[in-house]
Amino acid sequence: MEIIQVKDYQEMSKKASEIIEGKINLIDKPVLGLATGSSPEGMYECLIDKYKKGEISFQNTTTFNLDEYIDLSKDNSNSYYYYMHDKLFNHIDIKSINVHLLKGMARDLREEALRYERMIRDAGGIDLQVLGIGVNGHIGFNEPGTKFTNRTGVVELNELTRQANLRHFQSLDQVPTHAITMGIETIMDSKEILLLAFGKEKSRAVKGMIHGDVDEHLPASVLQKHQKVTIIADEAALSNV
Ligand code: F6R
Repeated sequence: MEIIQVKDYQEMSKKASEIIEGKINLIDKPVLGLATGSSPEGMYECLIDKYKKGEISFQNTTTFNLDEYIDLSKDNSNSYYYYMHDKLFNHIDIKSINVHLLKGMARDLREEALRYERMIRDAGGIDLQVLGIGVNGHIGFNEPGTKFTNRTGVVELNELTRQANLRHFQSLDQVPTHAITMGIETIMDSKEILLLAFGKEKSRAVKGMIHGDVDEHLPASVLQKHQKVTIIADEAALSNV
């Protein structure tokens, strides 16, 4: 694991966007795995900036998002479909046919998960997967206790995660109880991983990810077994390391 300590959120976002830019410029048809949440928001802003300045083009880029809530429609501002279009896709030259998100409203969610896995395979796999980390050490929506052998599928969100995401909703009963997410094994198949962690509340999870036992109780600890992981984190997130 390579750990890059940054001084603030802005530096984390800038460094992350430079890594993405490097990939896009290096590979003919780059395949990116993307995350939602607060951690990558600034990175998306930097990427939009680079696109507007003509430094980067997404014409040949394909994306796969990590996860989506079950039962939120695309136009619900809390859906990850909405987030990604609002924060990135609507502002760059990516082709909509190359944008992939799990469909949380699919009638057959098992088939949806298989379809997603097939599409990732057909695209040649993910070159670079961006991740955030939950306060409980989740990656994607793979909560503590999830099998490392899990592939894309439906999961139940635990209370800590629902509480953490409550800030985007009006009340806890509006926060979905289930999501569809790439599995740990799907994430581990990515050729390279970039994880962003910011703030004191992530410090326990970050410590476990880097130094803890590789154990299903802390999903992010599995990343110790990946051949190429870069972690960009601020001092507070690294304060227990
Ligand atoms: C988001 C995702 C989650 C978040 C994690 C951290 O697509 O899969 O694992 O990355 O919950 O969220 P933030 O960045 O909001 O602290």
